Amino acid sequence: MKLRWPSVTRREFLNTLFTGWFIAFFAACIYPLLKFIYPNLEKEPDFVILNAKDFLEIPNNSTKPFPWGGKLGLIFKKDDGTIHALKGVCTHMECNIMYKPEERKFYCPCHKGYFDQDGKNISGPPPRPLEFFEVRIENEKLIVSKKGVKVEIPKG
Ligand code: FES
Repeated sequence: MKLRWPSVTRREFLNTLFTGWFIAFFAACIYPLLKFIYPNLEKEPDFVILNAKDFLEIPNNSTKPFPWGGKLGLIFKKDDGTIHALKGVCTHMECNIMYKPEERKFYCPCHKGYFDQDGKNISGPPPRPLEFFEVRIENEKLIVSKKGVKVEIPKG
């Protein structure tokens, strides 16, 4: 069936198409430029300091997110009540992972990658285990740091 008066003219359609193309092209050009001007734009921190009480009271066998630079960090409380912290990013193509408490596994929805509770890659395409951090509680603060990084909190 042919519409007698189409709701979009050929000119409007082409204008929309070219505008979308131009915006995508502009974004693709500006992003590398911003990364060059601000090299720390996506740099991960060596440590973060969190409010301990926000994370220590989560239920066993659950996770709670925290910002790790521009990426996802996860505080993970195991069944035995121990607290762990990890980067919530898959080692395959950096998709955000999620925890499946009923399976007691971390899951990456992008390509169905699975990791066990210790972060070991157990199925799917992820080539390496998840990155776990060191966790320390001091002065009601939860200090999450990369392994080997010493963090001193100023007293007072
Ligand atoms: S990005 Fe996680 S499995 Fe591919």
